[in-house]
Amino acid sequence: MIVHGGVFMAKKIIVTGGAGYIGSHTSVALQESGFDVVVFDNLSNSNISSLDGVAKITGTRPEFINVDCADFSALRSAFMLHRDAVGVIHFAAFKAVGESVANPTMYYRNNLNGLINVLDLMREFEIPNLVFSSSATVYGTPAVLPVTEQTPLQPATSPYGGTKVMGENIIRDTVHAYPQMHATLLRYFNPIGAHPSGLIGELPNGVPNNLMPYITQTAARIRPVLNVFGDDYDTPDGFCVRDYIDVNDLARAHVAALNYMLSGGDGVSVFNLGTGRGLSVMELVRGFESATGVPVPYKIAPRRAGDVPAIWADASLAERVLKWRADTPLSETLASTWRWQKNQSN
Ligand code: NAD
Ligand code: WQD
Repeated sequence: MIVHGGVFMAKKIIVTGGAGYIGSHTSVALQESGFDVVVFDNLSNSNISSLDGVAKITGTRPEFINVDCADFSALRSAFMLHRDAVGVIHFAAFKAVGESVANPTMYYRNNLNGLINVLDLMREFEIPNLVFSSSATVYGTPAVLPVTEQTPLQPATSPYGGTKVMGENIIRDTVHAYPQMHATLLRYFNPIGAHPSGLIGELPNGVPNNLMPYITQTAARIRPVLNVFGDDYDTPDGFCVRDYIDVNDLARAHVAALNYMLSGGDGVSVFNLGTGRGLSVMELVRGFESATGVPVPYKIAPRRAGDVPAIWADASLAERVLKWRADTPLSETLASTWRWQKNQSN
């Protein structure tokens, strides 16, 4: 809280990309923790109805500005209106790996120009704290599992991944040059799930690339069958292994990161955000079936180019420093995902 003339004011956070999947859940978590949320989004991969969901869940509709973060002068006008913010959570980015391979400059332009504009405007308006959406993709195919924040980064295998590696470096250099700025780089593993209310969730455009929405759309009979990419990996059951983290747990980690910086956390901090547990594709499919009682027809398909056989997080640093851990049971995550999918289908 900030006191203005005896009136308590909630601390304001700018959430770029706040109408999107992770941003809308984080807006809920922020508002439930007493922050005042302003969403900057150009709705290029989201729908404004997500903020109706946030409003229904929390009783407060975040202020919304339709703005392209890659457009400096438009973004500057938005920042000018909210120069009293104490922090920025920067989600706004394109995120489809395959699309980034097909159209690299679109990805570099959107993701890097957006970030650079945000950094310049935070400096101009003296907003000190940044939380950045990074990704486990920065680890490539790791030699040792689980990966810690010290695991060496590998050259990006897609332009999308490149924007995360470069984004992290741009932030490090900027904070180094302007020590009044602080940043937390959050490396998400595989976010899945929806709010337990079923009012907000992931809204993939067209045919989903990611496993979880493909499973729910197959269960809902929107897709006839799930293609399971590869059953001959060198993993316990032959299927790829990932660290699937509940989006509501992920959202809480952003609040923890902000509170950490607001209470003195300095410089640039980096945290893995995962459960610390690897699950195979088939374990997720079976887990979904047992959590919901709904069958998921699947067939084994060839390996997908570029897939890492196995990766999961050591998330103990976030637990020690941020006092955060991912603790939603998988069955609850899967039940919420299905509730959201059914609401969409209806
Ligand atoms: P999303 O597409 O649902 O949300 C991104 C939001 O940003 C959308 O609302 C979109 O309209 C907006 N946006 C994109 N470019 C913009 C621009 N130039 N100006 C304003 N708004 C813009 O994606 P998400 O899954 O919520 O991902 C959020 C962030 O987390 C992204 O940076 C993504 O790269 C990162 N991330 C996502 C995952 C994942 O699997 N979902 C994993 C690791 C990292
Ligand atoms: C998970 C597993 C597939 C779809 C991607 C990005 C990464 C990050 C998260 C942003 C793999 C298998 C999938 C299907 C399948 N995003 N699968 N059938 O590839 O781990 O990570 O999203 O930063 O950068 O690369 O996630 O959900 O696509 O795949 O068998 O129809 O599911 O082969 O083993 P991935 P995913």
